[in-house]
Amino acid sequence: MTDAQLAPAPTPARRRFLAEVGGLGLLFACAPLLRAEPRLAAAADVRHWLEQIETLSRRLRGNTLTSLQWRSEIDAVNTATPLTEYLPQLQFDRALQAMQRAGKDPAKTFIRLRDINGAPAQAAFAAAYFVFAKGQVITPHGHRGMVSAHAVVSGRLHARTYDRLGRDGDALLLRPRLDTPVLPGFSAAISASEGNVHWFVAERDASATLDVIVQDIDANGREFAIELVDPRAAKPDIDGIIRAPLISWEESSRRYQGVGG
Ligand SMILES: [Fe+2]
Repeated sequence: MTDAQLAPAPTPARRRFLAEVGGLGLLFACAPLLRAEPRLAAAADVRHWLEQIETLSRRLRGNTLTSLQWRSEIDAVNTATPLTEYLPQLQFDRALQAMQRAGKDPAKTFIRLRDINGAPAQAAFAAAYFVFAKGQVITPHGHRGMVSAHAVVSGRLHARTYDRLGRDGDALLLRPRLDTPVLPGFSAAISASEGNVHWFVAERDASATLDVIVQDIDANGREFAIELVDPRAAKPDIDGIIRAPLISWEESSRRYQGVGG
């Protein structure tokens, strides 16, 4: 499964994951919202997606799955799941209401996960939306101490990702991976290396990603850090590698926000 896949995966991939997690119990409930939206996707389907994410994230935290495997498997789950049908159960209305047209940044809204008793869930992951007005940008950055997955669930964005090959002084060494418009059905997760640096520009109002975040893991070290870089500051070398300087939040905003993608 690659980042370039724009449409949900075919049925066989979904069946494969259903079979692999068939023995798990139900960890989450969306009952209050489901009562309000009885015609929409069944609670079991939403719970099944959450259970798959929970299983993968627990395995990552337990070191029985590498971040490379987590990245690959969570992209497979996301592209095999009709996430846009689940948005009412996953509190997307609240995220849409948080969208700010005035500012440069997309609005981040966490999904409140609950267990089957209605109490806040002790999950291995966090889930959040980023909702963008047209032109808003998540500027280029890499990660340490966490991994994340980004499923487009609304609108259209331009996504660029880079593999993180290492650090060289005051720069990250990057190999371009993806540079393409993306639509609902697309998912791009990161590992410690693959796609670790990403950059999103909204091409439509109310563009949104549904993100899964796993922190407190060893990915380029355990200490959480967001590392802003400028991949346009250097040309790729003969091997296609960019030496992208690390820059400040202020410089990142100045160079990448409000100037298009
Ligand atoms: Fe990120």
